[in-house]
Amino acid sequence: MSEMFEEISDNRTPPTYKFFNGSAWVTSAGGKTTEVHSPIDDSVLGKVQVVTHEEIDAAMKAAHAQQKNWEATPLNQRVKVMHLTADWIRQYEDYLTTLLIREIGKTSDEARGEIKRTADLTDYFADEVQSIRGFELDSDNFPGFDKGGTALIDRVAYGVVLAIAPFNYPVNLSGSKLAPALLMGNSVILKPPTQGSISGLHLTQLFRKAGVPTGVLATVTGGGGEIGEYLTAHGGVDMIAFTGNSETGMAIAKNAGMKPLLFECGGDNPVVVLPDADMHLTAREIIKGGFSYAGQRCTGIKYVLGTETTLDQLIPLVLELMKTEVAMGDPRSPGTKLVGPVISEEAAVHIEEAIRLSVSAGAKILTGGGRKNSYIEPTILTDVTPDMRVVASEVFGPVVSFVRIASMDEAVGIINRSRYGLQASVFTKDEGTGIVFARQLHVGSVQINGSPQRGPDHFPFLGVKHSGVGVQGVRYSLEAMSRLRPIVLNKPG
Ligand code: G3P
Repeated sequence: MSEMFEEISDNRTPPTYKFFNGSAWVTSAGGKTTEVHSPIDDSVLGKVQVVTHEEIDAAMKAAHAQQKNWEATPLNQRVKVMHLTADWIRQYEDYLTTLLIREIGKTSDEARGEIKRTADLTDYFADEVQSIRGFELDSDNFPGFDKGGTALIDRVAYGVVLAIAPFNYPVNLSGSKLAPALLMGNSVILKPPTQGSISGLHLTQLFRKAGVPTGVLATVTGGGGEIGEYLTAHGGVDMIAFTGNSETGMAIAKNAGMKPLLFECGGDNPVVVLPDADMHLTAREIIKGGFSYAGQRCTGIKYVLGTETTLDQLIPLVLELMKTEVAMGDPRSPGTKLVGPVISEEAAVHIEEAIRLSVSAGAKILTGGGRKNSYIEPTILTDVTPDMRVVASEVFGPVVSFVRIASMDEAVGIINRSRYGLQASVFTKDEGTGIVFARQLHVGSVQINGSPQRGPDHFPFLGVKHSGVGVQGVRYSLEAMSRLRPIVLNKPG
């Protein structure tokens, strides 16, 4: 165990990790812990605390007590803390990469990519925040308000932000919430995913060592079912930033009541292939978009729409590419390409069931379809219809379905009837046609000649319908983690 992280656990094998209550690493008074298993081989990586409601209350109280001091800290000092955090993340890149591979089953390239991206994102937030300042407005430029008055409009913190991160990016999608929230002067309570908690606790230590003051950041662990409801309904929470599945997002929104929300939820991220598309490019992007991290991305491709003729050209290219670009296996093995295990055997069973139900409804397996423990074979289905489970529900796994359509209008109808609306991709050699087509789609973002993805991280990233609330992306997250506060100077008389 590196000296930097010695205090966060009991340093046994496997370790029992503490939680960070805002001022110290402690074990929970409740005496309960929950095991974190590696999806690679179900080995126990460690135990994390199941914090008590009283411990959540205490962390929330400390967060409020220190928030105003933190917000009053000069911005350039908050910026320095974030740049130092980014430096610490880079210094522990190897350490965090190894941890991520074991805790969530990412391949080495994907895990290292997540760590590097988090450091770069933290630096980018710290640079961007310096251009987000207050402004002034005069009243006399609105008819009927000629008496004259001036509004001094500040941008201020909400107070205490509850950040809830998902298992598939426990470092990056914690950092993408912590950095903007802290830079805008909020205190933060971080709830990492159960599987991903260990990575989240290590990230917390780096923020703390970089200088986030006592009380301003706390990281509480425990099963979502045990503490999630208490946390999201807590009266001390002023804003919630969440990434996870749509059902959980819906439950949090109901539980939270009237407060600002920044949610990224599930997506089906369809690909529409126009007859003129570059089929080799399209096949490469479908492989990347459908099978990266074993398909466990909110922006992962779930289905591909094309006419009979188009799919007859495309599917053989995809199948051929899969032979060299996709290989299922232990994510630590250099022979594994894109597809390690999914996050748990329970998740794998759900995916297997979705495949089975779809096949029984008429879909055909062209490759894959099998399961061994937490490993789902990279799977391609054809003859799929939008009502089948593999399209109608978010199959968070290495499964791509091909849906034949008779016209592009049919494709628009299928996409717009979906309850999801995160991203969509359109492949065509004519960008103008792609733009016209994109403007018909009720989704957050449309990629033309590229697979769905959140990055680059300064682009606006949003979901509509059941795919999210609010807009993420560097500037947008900074603004979402703060509010305007106008002070109006009225002219007497
Ligand atoms: O699933 C998390 C979502 O943010 C996807 O991110 O970068 O893999 O498109 P990315």
